[in-house]
Amino acid sequence: MNQIIAIDGPSASGKGTVAQRVAEQLGFHYLDSGAIYRLTALAARQQGVLWSDEDSVLSVAQYLDVVFDGERILLSGVDVSDAIRSEEIGSGASQIAALPKVREALLARQQAFAQAPGLVADGRDMASVVFPAAPLKVFLTASAKVRAERRYRQLIGRGEAADLAVITADLEARDARDRARTVAPLAQAEDAFLLDTTEMDIDAAVAQVLLWWRA
Ligand code: CDP
Repeated sequence: MNQIIAIDGPSASGKGTVAQRVAEQLGFHYLDSGAIYRLTALAARQQGVLWSDEDSVLSVAQYLDVVFDGERILLSGVDVSDAIRSEEIGSGASQIAALPKVREALLARQQAFAQAPGLVADGRDMASVVFPAAPLKVFLTASAKVRAERRYRQLIGRGEAADLAVITADLEARDARDRARTVAPLAQAEDAFLLDTTEMDIDAAVAQVLLWWRA
């Protein structure tokens, strides 16, 4: 099955929303690979495992008991859909994502989402590592300022306390870590189309991805 659209990009670039909408339009499955890293970070935290302890996080990743049930995500039978979205767990996800053995252990779990009729996958290394043969690859980005504002509105919309300066600093730290790590660093794949959404709304971004797919 190679009906795959790989969408990569930095934090809060809008890739999740765009990927989900494209999947809906095409009737494809959707993989939020970041959620898998977030789940691993949350499970490690619950088990008292330090995010820097590679071998222990590896065993957490190997035994992760996850069910994706529509909008709900269950970890060992408990709905953690909201719990994995906090900024703290996002930061933990970015830390454990820098551990090569952990990435390797999560690879097959992500590839299993590639099922008929097709898949839209979003993350950091969908095009380079997880689905290198995907016929359409998109690198979706936006300026740091616009991304921080989007994340701020998202948190406020969920009723969480948010501080734009803190969010901007966290976003920049996470981007720097994602770009600098030695395994699967965040970067535009050579054969990926660049989609800069700094001055583009979600509908326009979705329309552009669909245009590329149907071309
Ligand atoms: O919501 P946001 O875009 O900030 O993050 P996410 O997509 O939920 O991913 C959380 C963290 O997991 C990112 O900061 C990355 O470090 C890591 N990640 C990764 O390394 N590879 C992926 N394919 C997806 C996420």
